[in-house]
Amino acid sequence: MAYKIEKARIHDATQMHKLINYFADKGEMLPRSLSEIYENIRDYFVVRQGEQVIACGALHISWVDLAEIKSLAVIEEHQKQGIGDQLVEYCLKEADNLGIAPVFCLSYIPAFFKKCGFTEVDKMELPRKVWTECYRCPKFPNCDEVALICHLEV
Ligand SMILES: CC(C)(COP(=O)(O)OP(=O)(O)OC[C@H]1O[C@@H](n2cnc3c(N)ncnc32)[C@H](O)[C@@H]1OP(=O)(O)O)[C@@H](O)C(=O)NCCC(=O)NCCS
Repeated sequence: MAYKIEKARIHDATQMHKLINYFADKGEMLPRSLSEIYENIRDYFVVRQGEQVIACGALHISWVDLAEIKSLAVIEEHQKQGIGDQLVEYCLKEADNLGIAPVFCLSYIPAFFKKCGFTEVDKMELPRKVWTECYRCPKFPNCDEVALICHLEV
């Protein structure tokens, strides 16, 4: 089933905050503050069901040749229906439209991203700029996320 993916609107922020931090509390992804979501609202995409945000994800531009998929989350009742895959595809298309070839992510579930066309890379291969928010991670400096990259043909 194809879900409608839309740019997030400012009033989606509180629901996205709740969704992301629900999984962050379980140690499955990084937490995000509400102010961080507001400041980066243009990075975010959502899937809505009526007034409810059932999934979100973000594409953040890091540099001229690097973008990152962040804060990907699908509400539990709607998982395993292809929404996560469609959100990743949407982010990759956005990167392609912007002319940015490599898209990376840091994840605890490399298997999911591999299914979406990503390949595991050594974290040290990523430019230092991508580590700017790591000091806010509860696990810092013992990072156990896996870095993955998808090279698009732009
Ligand atoms: C990870 C997540 C976004 C996947 O969303 P989803 O909508 O359930 O994923 P999809 O249904 O599109 O799955 C696509 C493929 O990935 C697989 N997959 C989904 N979740 C997976 C997981 N946790 N581990 C391994 N593979 C997974 C699916 O089986 C499917 O494979 P198939 O096409 O062979 O059937 C969702 O489980 C989630 O929100 N998890 C909690 C937050 C999180 O971990 N976010 C990632 C942070 S980087």
